[in-house]
Amino acid sequence: MDEVQQQTVGVSYAPCPPEEFCGRVEERDLLRTILAGAGERGQAVMISGPPGIGKSSLLTWLANEAQQHSGGLPSPVLRGEVFDLPGMIFSAFRELLRDLRRCAASGRFGALLDSEGLREAIRYADDVLEKYAAPVEPVGLLSKTGEEIIGIFAQSPEVGYDRVLQAFGELLTALGRQVSGAGQIAAVLLEDVHLAPALDRRLLRDLADDLPPGILLAFTCRADDGTGPGYATMKKEISGPGLPEISLSGMRKEEIRELAKRRFELAVDDAAAGVLETNRGDPFGLVACFNALRRRGLAPTAEKIADLLAGTPDPADLAFATFSGPPCTWANDLCVLNPPFPVPVMACMLDIEGMSVTLMMDRLQESGILRRLPGGEYAFAHPLLQEHCRATLSTDAKAALNARAAGCFERSLHRLSGRLHVLLSLACHFFHAREYAKAADLNLELGLRFHHREDYDTALLLTERAIASAERIGDGDLLAAARRQRDLVRQKAGP
Ligand SMILES: Nc1ncnc2c1ncn2[C@@H]1O[C@H](COP(=O)(O)OP(=O)(O)OP(=O)(O)O)[C@@H](O)[C@H]1O
Ligand SMILES: [Mg+2]
Repeated sequence: MDEVQQQTVGVSYAPCPPEEFCGRVEERDLLRTILAGAGERGQAVMISGPPGIGKSSLLTWLANEAQQHSGGLPSPVLRGEVFDLPGMIFSAFRELLRDLRRCAASGRFGALLDSEGLREAIRYADDVLEKYAAPVEPVGLLSKTGEEIIGIFAQSPEVGYDRVLQAFGELLTALGRQVSGAGQIAAVLLEDVHLAPALDRRLLRDLADDLPPGILLAFTCRADDGTGPGYATMKKEISGPGLPEISLSGMRKEEIRELAKRRFELAVDDAAAGVLETNRGDPFGLVACFNALRRRGLAPTAEKIADLLAGTPDPADLAFATFSGPPCTWANDLCVLNPPFPVPVMACMLDIEGMSVTLMMDRLQESGILRRLPGGEYAFAHPLLQEHCRATLSTDAKAALNARAAGCFERSLHRLSGRLHVLLSLACHFFHAREYAKAADLNLELGLRFHHREDYDTALLLTERAIASAERIGDGDLLAAARRQRDLVRQKAGP
């Protein structure tokens, strides 16, 4: 009898909880050494590797390790995440600040963070970021959409990049002084910097170059096939100051057996682990495979595993095959959104109101497809799940969902606080909805503002969208203006 009891609730695709973390012994030893050195001299480390290899899980493990670093007394851990919406300048750094403010106010750290100098440094950094990136000046950006005038940041920021760097440098110095004085460290963790705007990457590199004692800075960076621009740039940037990189690769047989045992209570023999090691060593694929075996009531033999992998070679396909019910359909409708997903927009996308919204959020979370973020918004439990949903949409379905998303953002404007996220989302949805008249205007205007903020990558992306849109609607004046803007941005961006 090689069938095991069928279960419906699978193991989540979110980062692994530290108590279930398996393998990666050498990588963990290295991180422990780096952590131990952070008290005397600030340390930075990059965790890299292909999609689903376990970078976020290792960062979560490190967060837990850092928290317990100084024998009982909690250490502050700040965490920021970069999402896949180009142009969200310094939003991950704002998350770090929010975390620090929360830590300082919580009382959990006692006198550790109770310092006027630190409070002042937080206020200053907050103020500088607000001045640099936040919307301050009303401009009729959505005039052609018939919407009301909405806020957008001024032509040039009141403060320059140097002030942002200075403010964050002073903040880390103040934080480092507080924690190292008590023999502790503060961990500053950033997730997915391959998606970070160039300005964020520059700030990260400049800070990492000169970290004060007491600070550990760790960040994850997806390597894809080694050619992604984010990873390539990051690798070049960290090679200057000679920062260590922990590069993850597929799990080995023993690690696979440990994962099966600890997370699935499955005994996997050497032959079965060998099949997985050769074909599916990434933890995302392993979790998908064991979830599928469980769901189908199959024992984890080498033969069954080989059949399963031959039938469904794409791990995200395998993962989706174990989901069922309305959350699956909802996920499809939500996948065109750019995380973090605001709840009012999600509710509008799914056409749900009132109490049903809370119920729907609970179901989506329970299903393991979505996760709730610390700020109350949502994202897919794992980016590969969202990428998979997007890849399976037909061209027409994609356009229709983007049109719905644009409408939902317009309708929810008054309830949404993240203005930059709203504007960038609208610019993206109009374009993919083929609403080219609206897309041309908004992308051109936003492109100009990013030009003023010296984020030339985002400026170029938005301006290219404006050009494509102007071509579609045959607006010669707009097209000429957009091309002029593109040339200007290219000149500034350099070779
Ligand atoms: N060491 C580990 N032990 C147990 N489970 C793990 C381990 N590493 C990763 N996992 C599981 O594998 C899946 C993918 O891991 P994770 O999200 O950390 O990968 P990632 O490299 O951050 O992916 P991405 O590049 O898409 O961000 C998750 O379900 C996670 O729980
Ligand atoms: Mg990750």
